[in-house]
Amino acid sequence: MSNIILETEDLTKVYKVGKVETHALRGVSLSIEKGEFVAIMGQSGCGKSTLLHLLGGLLSPTSGKILIDGEDVSKVSDAKRTDIRRRKIGFVFQRFNLFPTLTADGNLRLAERIHLGNGNGNPEKRREILSLLKLENKMNNKPIELSGGEQQRVALARAVINSPAIILADEPTGNLDTENSEIVLNMFNKLNKRFGQTILMITHNPEAAEHCGRIIQMRDGLIVDD
Ligand SMILES: Nc1ncnc2c1ncn2[C@@H]1O[C@H](COP(=O)(O)OP(=O)(O)OP(=O)(O)O)[C@@H](O)[C@H]1O
Ligand SMILES: [Mg+2]
Repeated sequence: MSNIILETEDLTKVYKVGKVETHALRGVSLSIEKGEFVAIMGQSGCGKSTLLHLLGGLLSPTSGKILIDGEDVSKVSDAKRTDIRRRKIGFVFQRFNLFPTLTADGNLRLAERIHLGNGNGNPEKRREILSLLKLENKMNNKPIELSGGEQQRVALARAVINSPAIILADEPTGNLDTENSEIVLNMFNKLNKRFGQTILMITHNPEAAEHCGRIIQMRDGLIVDD
């Protein structure tokens, strides 16, 4: 059994808007082992979010391969890819993408439904995760009734509620002050150390990256340091 959970081979992504092409990724090859906690850094526009969205199956590559647990997800059907994503991956988006009409708890319940089906899910677990993120008093608030940092933490809770093997987080501390960044990073550390979850986190913050065992540096669509 290989210990590699996530692998890419010569991944490229070209966006086309009208006649303008943007080469967001120019050939990225990397492999991530189970249980790694990896930071992805690099200046704005260098392709970090694009890479994460490809890894999470939210976008299709222009060329190249993505393997999750040894399975080539570039070759499977859209339905299969969605299934793999739902079972194995938790995603924290750069924009929160919370469901506006649902409360914090309701947003977690929506994510649980994929794994646990209809019913009430696991209310205790939802409460525990929200408390860990200092949101125990905000369970019944809708996104519009939460601050930006609180919304970010609800989005994080949603990504981890189903204990995915892989957590992909796009600037999870981007909206947070020092204290709340620490709360989030400590939670990642705990998930990583205690449960062996694999985490890839995009960050602009060198202090956040210090929590990670590995730092991947990108520039202009390529990995320039690892
Ligand atoms: N949907 C899209 N259509 C067209 N161009 C896009 C699209 N998404 C991203 N791009 C372009 O691709 C390049 C890489 O974008 P990406 O979002 O991956 O950067 P990033 O490293 O995440 O930057 P940031 O740190 O600002 O979030 C940029 O030049 C961006 O303008
Ligand atoms: Mg980005």
